[in-house]
Amino acid sequence: MSRATTIDPDFSSWRARARELLAAEIPPTEVFWSETGTRQGELFGEDDPGLPTSRVGEPNLADSNPSESAISFRVPKSFFGLAETVACHTHPERWAVLYRLLWRMTREGERHLLVVSTDEDVRRVRAWAKEVGRDLHKMRAFVRFRKVRETEEGREQFVAWFEPEHRIVRRNAPFFRKRFAGMDWSIFTPDECAHWDGRELTFSPGVSQSEAPDFDALEDLWRSYYKSIFNPARLKLRAMQSEMPMKYWKNLPEAELIGDLTRDASQRRDEMIDRPTREPRPAPKNLYLEKLEDQNSIALVREAEAVPEQETLSEMKTRAECCRACPLWERATQTVFGEGREDAEVMIIGEQPGDQEDLAGRPFVGPAGELLHSVLRELGVSREDLYLTNAVKHFKWRPSPKGVNHRGPTRLHDKADRGEIAACRPWLWGEIAKVSPRVILTLGNTAGQGIVGPDFRVLRDRGEVMPSPDLDFSGKAFATVHPSYLLRLPRGERGIERAAFVEDLRAAFSHA
Ligand code: URA
Repeated sequence: MSRATTIDPDFSSWRARARELLAAEIPPTEVFWSETGTRQGELFGEDDPGLPTSRVGEPNLADSNPSESAISFRVPKSFFGLAETVACHTHPERWAVLYRLLWRMTREGERHLLVVSTDEDVRRVRAWAKEVGRDLHKMRAFVRFRKVRETEEGREQFVAWFEPEHRIVRRNAPFFRKRFAGMDWSIFTPDECAHWDGRELTFSPGVSQSEAPDFDALEDLWRSYYKSIFNPARLKLRAMQSEMPMKYWKNLPEAELIGDLTRDASQRRDEMIDRPTREPRPAPKNLYLEKLEDQNSIALVREAEAVPEQETLSEMKTRAECCRACPLWERATQTVFGEGREDAEVMIIGEQPGDQEDLAGRPFVGPAGELLHSVLRELGVSREDLYLTNAVKHFKWRPSPKGVNHRGPTRLHDKADRGEIAACRPWLWGEIAKVSPRVILTLGNTAGQGIVGPDFRVLRDRGEVMPSPDLDFSGKAFATVHPSYLLRLPRGERGIERAAFVEDLRAAFSHA
């Protein structure tokens, strides 16, 4: 017998309902999922009266029922993160597929099902999660606020119109709250709207575009900024169009300029080539950080630097070989890009290539790499199954006052500064977006700062860390110390610290 179960189209409704169904031992083949507010829901009318009903906000069975707690215990934590993302998708079968996965993991002994990437259900939810991730990213990049007025207390009020593909407004709202905390804003979408008044984030039903005010004092600012950052030599129209699909152009004041700028592009490029060579472009040292403080500009800065979504890892690597976003390229032998499985479950992020990595062009092939490999071996993990990369892709070094070797002065590792970490961040985030690992493990301060930002401190924040709010990553990020920290310790202290390092890796891998 098929039972109709109607939920509000959000994760918490589905989770509460799924727990009830599981507790009542109802197999997925007997459940027909539909959503409130959809024609299907109306067609099928009332829920199955044989089941307890629950709505968001009511006590959840799982919180009080011991057998339910046991169920939650057997479900890998990563499933709920994945399910929360998939819940934002608009595919009508997502609830059924999620419930089937839950059933198989808890009732059919397939506890590790999520790692079986050939499984059709797993493949579908992963694909959906990726699509939602992309939509989250697009909304962050393409929302443009228009100033509508100033309150008597002097608070500026802004509105934006956006048409996401999926139900991502609630999921993305905390990002906008954090980024635009100092102003009042509303983001209107056809599905749902989000509002921030400096104190509280609230939501209201969707609206049509005509309800989003038209007046825009910021447009000229956006336009002139866009014009100033436009570099004809980097023009890749196809890439631009797919990163910034036409659908979004109409909301972007700077988009009007694209036509003119592209028409002039070849002439401007020739002029640039003909210009006498100047000193290397000054490093955009703290460009990113300055822009971070200037809230109006941040979206454009990220957009200008963002790695196009459809670019493959090897194309990204090729482009990174010419990266001049900071001065480190000048003294390094080559760019050391990440390497490993493109669908790795775990991504390990180090600080920057060392002397040997710089010469070999591969990450983690020197002494720190050896230590890392020995720990991986101990844990039964093969390097080939991972994706290894660094927060900074060029070796930063200074000549040793003491030594020379056959290649010249001995090179001493120097710490990358904030500007250099920030300049390299688009590559790192591009790699994360492509590989989409379940677990990120950062090694040392610089790697942690590459993800979380400059306030990260490894010895304080070691363990599970929150990824940056503007990073599209739905897995878990962990931090531990860098292997070269262990190598620098006096031998007597190294054993204990190494054991802690092994445990950190073990804990991180257990979430994959
Ligand atoms: N240290 C790192 O952080 N990365 C490497 O690739 C090598 C050493």
